[in-house]
Amino acid sequence: PSDVVPQAPEDPLFGLMAAFRADESPDKVDLGIGAYRDDNAKPWILPVVKKADEILRNDPDLNHEYAPIAGIQSFTSKAAELMLGADSPALKEKRSASIQTISGTGAVHLGALFLAKFFKGNRTVYVSNPTWANHHQIFSNVGIPTKQYPYFDKKTKGLDFEGMKNAIKDAPERSIILLHPCAHNPTGVDPTLDQWKELAEVIRSKNHFPFFDSAYQGFASGNLARDAASVRYFVEQGFELLIAQSFAKNFGLYGERAGCFHAVTAPGPDAQTTISRIASQLAILQRSEISNPPLYGARIVSLVLNDAKLFAEWEDNLTTMSGRIMDMRNSLRAKLEELGTPGTWNHITDQIGMFSFTGLTEEQVMRLRKESHIYMTKNGRISMAGLNTKNIDYFAKAVHAVVSS
Ligand code: LMR
Repeated sequence: PSDVVPQAPEDPLFGLMAAFRADESPDKVDLGIGAYRDDNAKPWILPVVKKADEILRNDPDLNHEYAPIAGIQSFTSKAAELMLGADSPALKEKRSASIQTISGTGAVHLGALFLAKFFKGNRTVYVSNPTWANHHQIFSNVGIPTKQYPYFDKKTKGLDFEGMKNAIKDAPERSIILLHPCAHNPTGVDPTLDQWKELAEVIRSKNHFPFFDSAYQGFASGNLARDAASVRYFVEQGFELLIAQSFAKNFGLYGERAGCFHAVTAPGPDAQTTISRIASQLAILQRSEISNPPLYGARIVSLVLNDAKLFAEWEDNLTTMSGRIMDMRNSLRAKLEELGTPGTWNHITDQIGMFSFTGLTEEQVMRLRKESHIYMTKNGRISMAGLNTKNIDYFAKAVHAVVSS
């Protein structure tokens, strides 16, 4: 009968993308989904990815056989090194397990499923307010409810550090704490390394369980180590933790779904036994969900991570992307300040990564859409990569108009 399955709402982000595509205005500006665009508002295939693709296409030994359940080993091992650092104590002591996933979403899901099955503690995940909207449904789908800790301070448009710390302190002993290692989505606001250290102390004191969702390593600052510093610090401190790692943004491999999930156990005599058990359970979960992961994106990433020359070229490509985004931040702030747009705009350059949380209200967002064909999410998040030297004036003036009236 028709009432058994209720109609679900459309995904807000993909709905926004469809509305943008349907808009026929030549002036339209897409600041919705977090995907990099070049200065002509076009998707950018990283030059290093083109090279790797060429190599793959000419490799007579490649075929379309199944990958192992845990994925391509040359990919997962290098992905772990990239995330944890080649000299990570977790790698040296062989107390991490890595399994290839359907990009970051698949990794968060696998981690959530694993926790739903095995986590002994307060089976609630604390996420930032706000967080990537998908986090809520990924966890609730496997029966782990989400609760929020304060994160964004509307007044400063920066981090509400005290609020965040206190909420994590007040969460019941042994809760799951979801953290964005860098380039927080949707706010672009990150804790400083000193603040991460304080957070680590609080998390340790409550015996909480950290779960990092890393979608922007290298994309945020252009520096791979800096963007992973929070995760690496927690690992150095001997935490048991989980990491979801996406290669969508930093390789521009969005639709190829290349990602990895890492589990790290605490140091100690049982660490290797524990990690081998965890790896065995992850393999069972993976088999029942996707059997084995897709090849293409992981092959591209693996080629680049395993070749010093290609790796250096990738770092260059990362600088191109993060550099262009930083240019757009500087330029947008300067233009709004020049125009004398009411309010302060330093947060545009203080924030980092793909997004800026502009502080625009839902009403202003809707006016921008209607009056100027500018598309952004209702919470005032803009994908910085949607701005370029051709549309930034138009955008700044449109923002000025809605903020001023
Ligand atoms: C975004 O937040 O725009 C991206 O992470 C894309 C997505 O899958 O939601």
